[in-house]
Amino acid sequence: MVSNFSLKNKKILVTGGAGFIGSNMVRRLLLDNEVTVLDNLSGVDRRYIEEFEGNRNFKFIKGDINSIFDIQDAVNFDLIIHLAANSDVRNGSIDPSIDFKSNTQGTFNVLEFMRRKEIPEIMFSSSSTVYGETDVLPTPEDYGPYMPISSYGASKMSGEGFIFAYSHYYGIRGSIFRFANIVGRNSTHGVIHDFINKLMANKKELEILGDGTQRKSYMHVDDCVGSMIYVHSKIKKTDVVNLGNSAVTSVKTIADTVTSQMGLHNVKYVFTGGLDGRGWKGDVKVAQLDIKKLEGMGWKNKFTSDEAVTKATAEILEQRGISKKS
Ligand SMILES: NC(=O)c1ccc[n+]([C@@H]2O[C@H](COP(=O)([O-])OP(=O)(O)OC[C@H]3O[C@@H](n4cnc5c(N)ncnc54)[C@H](O)[C@@H]3O)[C@@H](O)[C@H]2O)c1
Repeated sequence: MVSNFSLKNKKILVTGGAGFIGSNMVRRLLLDNEVTVLDNLSGVDRRYIEEFEGNRNFKFIKGDINSIFDIQDAVNFDLIIHLAANSDVRNGSIDPSIDFKSNTQGTFNVLEFMRRKEIPEIMFSSSSTVYGETDVLPTPEDYGPYMPISSYGASKMSGEGFIFAYSHYYGIRGSIFRFANIVGRNSTHGVIHDFINKLMANKKELEILGDGTQRKSYMHVDDCVGSMIYVHSKIKKTDVVNLGNSAVTSVKTIADTVTSQMGLHNVKYVFTGGLDGRGWKGDVKVAQLDIKKLEGMGWKNKFTSDEAVTKATAEILEQRGISKKS
């Protein structure tokens, strides 16, 4: 049973804390902790952290993780929750150096900062993309060898590697989380947003990248944030845990959910097909994580993959001010 888990009375640095998962994490942490957010605002403006301004336990620093040593006054953190990254997998095929600079080099700099400032713990947002296209579904944490098919996946894989090395060298404790697709309020991009944008432009027809059979597991951001904190309270030494749902949701089901919640009928789906039915170069067509390790630790998600998509669609439509009739 899930009980008695939380982070309390800690000084926590959240990199990327102005973003989607970060802002949801910060809201949760501020119940019991002092939180500093470091974010260069490249992914989103300040809109999701405005609600925390004025809270005396909250501080925002606009800055890049590659210049993390500039935050001289920031001492004595107990924990870094490292979420800052180029989070859009699609960008990599256009310019892979984005993933290298923000994700690989950025994570290295965060670890160097930890070493020099003697910060003992890190939580890291890795990704299911480290596995690449696997022949074992659902994919467990000990599957290998990893063969990512995107520079994003490669950059997350290297981040994990450096965390293990720093744990061995310097005794830090790291919780490495391989996220499925996380959805919910404050998200900025992804398939639900894509469909809403397209349907706002044309209510009769929806272009769906790939052949619509891409299937992935989706996790609601409340379950993501909750399970991160939970797992971190359980593990004794650096470890990797898949975060997701055991079932998958197809892209076509997401299209049905979005059109129905927008109150649209008889929308014609146009599949782009191409690239073996994947959405774009670097897109893993079927991603399903084995979450036995997570559940074995005693965690149970509140929402299934389909429920996460349904709830997230409602939250996003509400945040964007789109009602059924619009
Ligand atoms: N959302 C998902 O489905 C998902 C899945 C797997 C992994 N992840 C990982 O989880 C983390 C959070 O993702 P998210 O969905 O909240 O993305 P997001 O883009 O909303 O948040 C990332 C934040 O990092 C900031 N940032 C980017 N580069 C930076 C830099 N060099 N220095 C400082 N700040 C920087 C951005 O401004 C943004 O606010 C990322 O590491 C992402 O790769 C997300």
